[in-house]
Amino acid sequence: MIHYNFKFWHYGLAITAVLAGALGYNLIEGDKTFYISGPPTHGHHQIELACTSCHGDAFDDRAVMQNACESCHLDALNKTSDTHPQSKFTDPRNAELLQNLDATQCVTCHREHKPEITRPYGVTLAKDFCAHCHQEIAEERASHAEFGFDTCSNSGCHNYHDNTALYENFLRKHVKDPSLKDRATVPALSGMALWLKANKQATPLTAADQDAPQATAAHIAQWANSHHAQAQVNCTDCHAQPEWQDRGLAVSVNSCQQCHEKQTDGFFDGKHGMRLNPALGNAFSPMSPALATLPMDASAKHKSLTCVSCHAPHEPDLQFAATEACLGCHQDQHSKNFKPSAHGQSWAAVEQGELAQEAAVSCATCHLPRIKKGRKVHVQHNQSATLQPNSKMIRTVCTQCHGVEFTLSALADPELIKNNFSTAPANHHTSMDLVRDRIQQRKKK
Ligand code: HEC
Ligand code: HEC
Ligand code: HEC
Ligand code: HEC
Ligand code: HEC
Ligand code: HEC
Ligand code: HEC
Ligand code: HEC
Ligand code: HEC
Ligand code: HEC
Repeated sequence: MIHYNFKFWHYGLAITAVLAGALGYNLIEGDKTFYISGPPTHGHHQIELACTSCHGDAFDDRAVMQNACESCHLDALNKTSDTHPQSKFTDPRNAELLQNLDATQCVTCHREHKPEITRPYGVTLAKDFCAHCHQEIAEERASHAEFGFDTCSNSGCHNYHDNTALYENFLRKHVKDPSLKDRATVPALSGMALWLKANKQATPLTAADQDAPQATAAHIAQWANSHHAQAQVNCTDCHAQPEWQDRGLAVSVNSCQQCHEKQTDGFFDGKHGMRLNPALGNAFSPMSPALATLPMDASAKHKSLTCVSCHAPHEPDLQFAATEACLGCHQDQHSKNFKPSAHGQSWAAVEQGELAQEAAVSCATCHLPRIKKGRKVHVQHNQSATLQPNSKMIRTVCTQCHGVEFTLSALADPELIKNNFSTAPANHHTSMDLVRDRIQQRKKK
């Protein structure tokens, strides 16, 4: 019966109301993996079984699918000022190009369930697809005459969406940067200082103020030492009555969300919290290392990913969260190579009290970076926001300490990523040479 439904759908025939009903039933109650073949995708494997989150209930409507992609991704693409947004193609001067490739639809380039043709970043087109629209590039720029179209999106050259650290004027502005800046620092976190400033009259809570119905001395002592007690967050602000000792999501994510909305949103948008994203309507348990595609510490297999995976709730320790917490789960080659690297050594100096956090590099410096907006500095909790393509780290992370040319070369070197930046980059990136040539040419004119 199930097989029969599937075939009808698969061959694109109209689904009758009855069949659609049965299919819908199977998508909610049945074995959903039955409908999809091959290994799961890198980006969506954690939520692949939430079929309706992409297909909608109708299961055959392209507009529904496009809406679904946009509802989860458009904010982030817009934030980085997407180089090829839909609006570029609704411009009548470019409409012709759409006959080569319909770039207004996400699925033109990102199909799902096609492991045999899926490249990094979930792209299902051949690498030279830029040729569909940029045939004339060699005439426009002589320097590009010798490049093949399959090299446009090599690391540090161009991305399709996010080019905020790769456009010519940005590179030109940084052409003379040294490989390591004199003032190599990231911004200091501002949360507690700004809270105290806004609450000048507030006195910190002490052990005597705790409001739990029953409590042990250990919990009270930890809490009384924390920034939470200092900011007047009491036991029952997290532990709602009457199940005050609950250890479930209600206390480890939902209660935190009331006061830390930004951090929670980032968490839901990335690989750690995506299964708990409210857009999926409680369809999933939290992510856990047992479900991961990356190598993880065997002893962490059954841990759940919530806020308290990195933050001990009664005494959050941000220094612990930034490296040791990560290594409790992540055990791939890159992660294991962090400690011996120059960055890892700098973090060891922080742990020994010899260096300020702001002058050092932890796992979080690159993957959960501090984002500065005016006087506010908060932690980006979506670790995918800087991960892919890795040129997203240029502005948000590396260039706080290194020059752009050094950074381009480092991020384009896969061996260096594997050894977690333990040596200097092997090769020199050509993008800056092209920029220098252009500057020379202009001077001659
Ligand atoms: C992350 C989004 C997403 C999720 C989740 C998802 N799909 Fe898809 N699915 C797609 C896209 C994109 C296509 C390709 C559409 C196209 O080419 O027009 C597709 C195509 C299909 C097709 C057509 C055959 C094919 O392989 O092209 C079937 C059948 C299908 N999906 C079933 C499912 C089922 C069953 C689930 C749940 C187990 C599911 N999908 C979950 C995005 C998704
Ligand atoms: C329920 C939210 C949700 C929906 C719906 C959704 N995505 Fe995603 N997608 C995510 C999350 C979360 C990630 C992982 C984090 C990241 O890479 O941004 C991701 C990852 C990706 C990636 C990176 C792939 C990789 O290999 O790393 C691409 C490309 C992508 N999505 C495109 C799409 C397209 C196209 C659609 C519509 C067919 C879609 N997404 C629908 C949430 C969603
Ligand atoms: C013409 C092809 C094309 C179209 C159309 C397209 N993408 Fe992409 N997408 C790419 C390529 C190529 C990459 C690889 C990284 C890059 O070059 O920016 C990518 C990467 C991504 C990523 C991961 C990297 C990142 O920058 O976040 C996401 C998420 C994504 N696309 C979502 C979408 C969504 C959502 C749509 C529809 C609104 C869409 N894409 C439309 C080609 C396309
Ligand atoms: C469907 C057509 C289409 C495809 C495919 C396409 N582009 Fe474009 N691209 C455009 C259009 C249209 C513009 C805007 C041109 C203009 O304003 O002069 C543009 C602009 C650009 C720019 C200029 C940046 C800017 O901010 O204006 C770069 C760089 C670029 N594309 C690179 C690429 C690369 C690399 C690829 C392949 C990964 C690619 N494009 C694929 C149509 C496309
Ligand atoms: C910032 C939010 C927060 C505050 C404030 C807080 N707790 Fe908790 N508490 C939690 C979370 C989250 C857990 C679940 C931890 C887990 O799942 O590992 C928890 C677990 C507990 C447990 C279960 C046993 C254990 O150690 O896991 C007890 C008992 C407890 N808290 C007592 C207290 C008392 C007493 C106070 C006040 C002095 C307090 N809590 C303040 C968030 C908080
Ligand atoms: C009633 C509001 C409230 C709740 C509930 C709450 N917090 Fe906080 N939290 C604060 C305030 C206020 C601060 C101090 C200002 C800041 O750092 O943003 C703070 C600070 C923090 C810090 C920074 C600690 C430091 O040492 O600087 C972390 C981490 C944190 N909270 C995590 C959590 C987690 C995890 C939960 C849920 C288990 C949670 N919070 C629940 C209000 C709350
Ligand atoms: C993967 C580990 C991890 C998870 C999961 C995590 N955090 Fe964090 N969080 C960190 C790290 C690391 C820092 C400090 C980074 C630094 O010092 O630069 C931090 C800092 C914070 C801060 C203080 C800085 C700021 O942005 O104001 C708050 C508040 C916070 N986290 C709340 C949360 C909440 C709420 C959740 C759950 C939705 C959560 N965190 C989940 C790792 C994590
Ligand atoms: C409780 C275990 C746990 C902790 C603690 C943890 N992670 Fe993760 N992390 C995971 C899991 C599970 C995934 C999802 C892997 C997957 O989807 O295959 C993940 C995904 C990631 C990814 C995305 C990888 C990708 O290919 O998209 C990065 C980067 C990452 N974590 C970095 C960190 C950093 C940095 C820390 C510490 C601040 C940390 N993690 C703490 C379990 C953990
Ligand atoms: C100096 C910046 C930096 C530091 C420090 C760093 N990483 Fe990474 N990490 C990267 C880059 C760059 C990538 C590769 C992104 C890409 O090109 O796909 C990466 C990739 C990853 C991945 C995905 C690996 C995969 O195979 O897909 C994980 C997980 C990860 N890092 C965890 C960690 C952990 C845990 C630590 C600390 C022990 C850490 N990283 C330290 C920059 C850093
Ligand atoms: C907080 C400042 C800081 C940030 C952020 C930072 N680094 Fe570093 N990095 C350093 C310092 C300091 C050294 C040690 C330099 C030395 O010993 O000559 C270093 C060393 C390196 C090295 C090794 C150089 C060698 O000759 O052995 C590489 C490669 C590197 N960083 C790449 C990166 C990349 C890529 C990023 C961004 C993903 C980044 N770094 C982010 C401060 C930083």
